[in-house]
Amino acid sequence: MDIFSVILRILHIFGAVAWVGGAWMMFLFIEPTVHALGPDGGKFMNYMATARRYPLYISAAAVITLLAGILLFGMHWRAAWNSPGGLTFLIGGIIGIIAGALGGMIGATSGSMMKLGGKIAQQGKPPSAEQQTAMRALQSRLHSLTLWTALMTTVALLLMVIAPHV
Ligand code: HEM
Repeated sequence: MDIFSVILRILHIFGAVAWVGGAWMMFLFIEPTVHALGPDGGKFMNYMATARRYPLYISAAAVITLLAGILLFGMHWRAAWNSPGGLTFLIGGIIGIIAGALGGMIGATSGSMMKLGGKIAQQGKPPSAEQQTAMRALQSRLHSLTLWTALMTTVALLLMVIAPHV
């Protein structure tokens, strides 16, 4: 295997580990903790997103995984895309790309939550009924998107791991 393929493979697999691990970490541990903490959960999330730059970390992991995967597919599997292994990589890749799009929607939803949270904090009075309803809707959307991203990256991972052996 040439050195460029080795580097792409390292980037692809390390990126995938960070992305899939981060997605489950968010769904199983961080999101329920933020929910249980109430208003302090908002502060926790805000610190994680701005000071610790979590969205940058997870987006970089996803983009690196997807770009390296697409290049590897083009270099090693394009000609054999309709072989059992090629098709398994292709289906896994498409599922991975959809997971990437869902990840982008998570970013947009979190952004709206932080905006609304900031507005509530600034108004100096408890949130109105509409603001509470809007926040609950955003939370429930974030919960589903996080679950679907974790599930789809895991299915992509499973297909990628079995593809060389089918
Ligand atoms: C959630 C997204 C993804 C995850 C978790 C993931 C994970 C992995 C893993 C763990 C491997 C190593 C498999 C092994 O050698 O046993 C692999 C290989 C591979 N992946 Fe992905 N992958 C993802 C997305 C993609 C995408 C979007 C493509 C593009 C079609 C892709 C194409 C490939 C290819 C072609 C290989 C074989 C590399 C080689 O030639 O050695 N992957 N992937």
